[in-house]
Amino acid sequence: MNANPEISDIQLEPFKALLLEICGFSFDSGRGQSLHTALINRMAYRRMDSLMDYIALLKRNPDEMHSLVELLTVNETYFFRESEYLSLMMKRLVPEIMNDSPNAQIKIVSAGCSTGEEPYSIAMLLNDILGSESMQRFNIVGVDIDGSVISKAIKGIYGKYSFRGMDHIYLERYFEEAEAGTFRVKKQIMNQVTFQTANLRSSIYPAVMQNSDIIFYRNVSIYFPAQVQEEIFARLADCLNTGGYLIVSATETMHHDLGILALVEMNGLFVYRKLPGTLSRDRRHHRRKEPEAVRPLITKNTRQPEQLKKPEKPDKHFEKINIKSLFDDALEHAQAERPDLALSVLDKIISQDQGFVNAHALRASLLIDAHRLDEAQSACNEALKHDLLCLSACLMLGIIAHQTGKNEAGLKHFRKAVYLDSLCWPAHFYLAGITHLMGENKRAIAGYQTALEILSNGAISELGTKYFPLTFNAQQFLVVCRHKIGILKKT
Ligand SMILES: C[S@@+](CC[C@H](N)C(=O)[O-])C[C@H]1O[C@@H](n2cnc3c(N)ncnc32)[C@H](O)[C@@H]1O
Repeated sequence: MNANPEISDIQLEPFKALLLEICGFSFDSGRGQSLHTALINRMAYRRMDSLMDYIALLKRNPDEMHSLVELLTVNETYFFRESEYLSLMMKRLVPEIMNDSPNAQIKIVSAGCSTGEEPYSIAMLLNDILGSESMQRFNIVGVDIDGSVISKAIKGIYGKYSFRGMDHIYLERYFEEAEAGTFRVKKQIMNQVTFQTANLRSSIYPAVMQNSDIIFYRNVSIYFPAQVQEEIFARLADCLNTGGYLIVSATETMHHDLGILALVEMNGLFVYRKLPGTLSRDRRHHRRKEPEAVRPLITKNTRQPEQLKKPEKPDKHFEKINIKSLFDDALEHAQAERPDLALSVLDKIISQDQGFVNAHALRASLLIDAHRLDEAQSACNEALKHDLLCLSACLMLGIIAHQTGKNEAGLKHFRKAVYLDSLCWPAHFYLAGITHLMGENKRAIAGYQTALEILSNGAISELGTKYFPLTFNAQQFLVVCRHKIGILKKT
């Protein structure tokens, strides 16, 4: 029984059927009350008291349908929600797609984007890596059935609730203060995202969704019954290029293993992938290379760390624990994307041997990944305290300086890295990036070319692991170097 005597459960049925047909909404699991309240509100607004008249109005007037739908959608979202999927996108999917389609525009769609936090998070992450070039290579699209959330997304103004899953560094980097404690997304990020209203229940999806490389479809399908879930999933799959990925949230994953797309495991997460021949309507069969069996693109360090420094007079306790094997454990956790476990093992190691340089270095790299940059900087300084020539610590200090906009300090650290090892391609790469930012295009081209030459002459797999620890693989740097040189030469 519903609480309000004005509309009985039986009277709700035709509205439920209509909304299921038009929008795919299911009101079975305790959502009947929200439908009831929405109907009362809309009918009061329209000064109507006949349910039959109101349903007739809904059928003939799309604006009224939109207004009702806006009251029924659940728009809960925030920046960097379920960030492990975003980090998987950055570490594996984006490098792979860039590599497979070196010259093509890459499209990432957020289907059911609500107020825009998801597509803006994607734009920020891409901007972090590719700078302003992410605009040229990536087309990010957000669609939602609810016009009111799309209007909010276009305005790009957010209150603190939207930032609850976000590192404050992004607030400083990509937002400016707006009225009354709110923050507006900066133009460079806004310009990268296109928003449009679209109903995923429709049989035809808008052009902005077609030929996508990655579709995020998270926390949307939970409101649809199984039949509708399947239909929408198949239509989204149709929008993907061959080799493209469809990402749902962890709780929704298994419902979609329907044989439409291949379920693949990557870094402990499951995503769907459009392999050749999975669907009949395959629009761009030849654009991308055939995907191989899923392969890791981010080569984490598999090499054994540099010579471990052992304390001169180990005590009995230290001998027992075998610090070397603890470090191997930490490394394994880091490679398997279990940063918290890795960090706790590293803390244990450091509490027993403060001079263990590689523990500080690995710790710093994990902290950079987690955007805990102040702590990462301290970890690098600790490594340098025990080994003044620790190359990875110099590199990471350079990266931290660069990420926090301290380009002069970045130059100093990367130059030191080149001094320590003239073949250190990450240092050449980042030096080129900073000189580009400083407007010195010729030097930037030269820097990228040096990095490219070193990368082209070495075995990529070895180069990717040489300057431990790294988050991106050598192959991806190679692609980015070529891309940057191409762009700089045109300017
Ligand atoms: C909970 S939000 C998810 C936002 C974001 N994807 C996330 O994970 O944070 C679900 C969104 O799906 C939208 N939605 C529901 N049904 C839809 C449909 N038929 N077509 C398009 N969007 C729909 C809702 O309007 C809502 O904004």
